[in-house]
Amino acid sequence: MTDVIPARFITIEGGEGTGKSTQAGRLSQTLSERGIRNIVTREPGGSDGAELIRKLLVEGEPNRWDPLVETLLIFAARADHVARTIRPALAAGQWVICDRFTDSTFAYQGAGRGLDPRLIRTVEDVSIGGFWPEFTIILDVAVKDALDRIGSRDHAENRFEKFDPEFHERLRTYFRDLARTEAQRCVLIDSNVPIDQVAQRIWSAVAERFKL
Ligand code: TMP
Repeated sequence: MTDVIPARFITIEGGEGTGKSTQAGRLSQTLSERGIRNIVTREPGGSDGAELIRKLLVEGEPNRWDPLVETLLIFAARADHVARTIRPALAAGQWVICDRFTDSTFAYQGAGRGLDPRLIRTVEDVSIGGFWPEFTIILDVAVKDALDRIGSRDHAENRFEKFDPEFHERLRTYFRDLARTEAQRCVLIDSNVPIDQVAQRIWSAVAERFKL
């Protein structure tokens, strides 16, 4: 009988321009090569309803929403995403790789925009309960390098990129601190090296964590 590897919920976090989506794809590919069925999904978004809410969040001017309303929208999207995409995939035995999750809310709406983390915790509680990833990869790049990377992107989803550089520094500090304070769940990976090298480091961390 072949061993059944239990489905895992993994998130990839970091500031703007840290290469999360590319690395989510690379990790998915490596898992597939090992015969581990998986899906890649993202936040905000990842289900039909949540993708509609994403558009409201990532387009337009920075002050379009105040931080509380923004947080309510994010958790509305997240509750739909968890119920309709993440839980069903895990129940079907698929690993889930999610590009951003609740850590991003504590970083962007908490550390970045100044919303009291206790309030975020309360909204989290009523919308998704204690649903947390088992493993979180945090990609780290100096803010200036990251903003230079995305400077040339031509896209409508740039609302958060328009916040000032200090905002982005607060995000980076939050994520780096998180890797230290939640070291049993999180691993910090320097993403300012070639893509293949980042992918290799992520794979080593995942393989070690899940004994693959
Ligand atoms: P992305 O560019 O990584 O796809 O993410 C979209 C934007 O949404 C990004 O600028 C960060 C922001 N965001 C939050 O502000 N809070 C959250 O909880 C999440 C998941 C994303």
